[in-house]
Amino acid sequence: MNSDTPLQLLGGLTAREFLRDYWQKKPLLVRQAFPDFVSPIDADELAGLALEEEVESRLVLEHGERPWELRRGPFAEDAFSDLPERDWTLLVQAVDQFVPEVAELLEEFRFLPSWRIDDVMISYAAPGGSVGPHFDNYDVFLLQGDGTRNWKVGQMCNSDSALIDHADLRILADFEQSDEWTLEPGDMLYLPPRLAHYGVAESECLTYSVGFRAPSAAEVLTHFTDFLGQFLPDEERYSDADAQPVSDPHQIQHDALDRLKALIDKHMSDKDLLLTWFGQFMTEPRYPEQVVGEELSEQELINYLEQGAVLIRNPSARMAWSELNDDLMLFASGRSCPLPAKLRELLKLVCAADALHIDNLGQWLQDEDGLMLVQQLVMQGSLGFADE
Ligand code: SIN
Ligand code: CO
Repeated sequence: MNSDTPLQLLGGLTAREFLRDYWQKKPLLVRQAFPDFVSPIDADELAGLALEEEVESRLVLEHGERPWELRRGPFAEDAFSDLPERDWTLLVQAVDQFVPEVAELLEEFRFLPSWRIDDVMISYAAPGGSVGPHFDNYDVFLLQGDGTRNWKVGQMCNSDSALIDHADLRILADFEQSDEWTLEPGDMLYLPPRLAHYGVAESECLTYSVGFRAPSAAEVLTHFTDFLGQFLPDEERYSDADAQPVSDPHQIQHDALDRLKALIDKHMSDKDLLLTWFGQFMTEPRYPEQVVGEELSEQELINYLEQGAVLIRNPSARMAWSELNDDLMLFASGRSCPLPAKLRELLKLVCAADALHIDNLGQWLQDEDGLMLVQQLVMQGSLGFADE
């Protein structure tokens, strides 16, 4: 995709302009981002998903047994029969992992790294339904799927912003409205992280949230240092072969801090390990139990493909690749695999293609490393055979 092409999705802005002026900075309303949008899933199908064991869902009732009652799925068949006429919302996470037509919407967001995308959540709201004024710590594109919803945006928030007293929901105590729009099907509102927002259904409505992810500084530091720790031998310690006699033995001198700082810096600045950790961390599946492989020999793989079998990416798997010195790294579902530079096009194909078959894999099956890579991805569960 050319980053200087005006995009309907972005209201005629190019990806470059959007990233420069709006991304992580300010909201953007796009009328008819998806022209004549027809939701690939309806309210009944969404409710059906919320019954499934493996699907993460919530119900928020503004006037339930207590104000802003939260009920967690999976739900029983009769869970929706005694709900009030108004003022409740059913939210279903990661619908893109369960409904391929919803995953297809993500193709429109390919101007952003796929490892930044978290999921497509879909909510169904009865008239008046809302999850209350709140802020999220991540970017979101809110696409109106069906019906109409009023969105108000407010102030920038942070962890000091006052919340109402609630055990499960983070609802803002104060909302300082700065703008408001009513969205119709196909309209989309981009919100940067931490911007207060408050969406209320004007009619029965479906709202798609394309949510992004960014690790917190605390996560980066704790996880990366844990990862580094595995590679550090026990004998590597604080050392002071350059020590001088001390004037007060109880004082921690600053030269000790300098030695510590040098020890930390030496390991923290290892870019190869940082990349390995980051690729693994960012491709960890949201639902690891959905990424299950199968035994498969190289010969069986070739036979199946020759008989017309198609491999598709497990919708719950995450994949990314990178350059590491003169080699390449593939990251798949939380694991990393160093690969020779000659496999670059195969890596790109595996990460990007929805379907791998004898025609596009062709030559790679004759390459020992290429064949083994595809086989390993099937055994690990990141790729799987499409049902006929
Ligand atoms: C919703 O779909 O009702 C909530 C989406 C959000 O505000 O993040
Ligand atoms: Co939100």
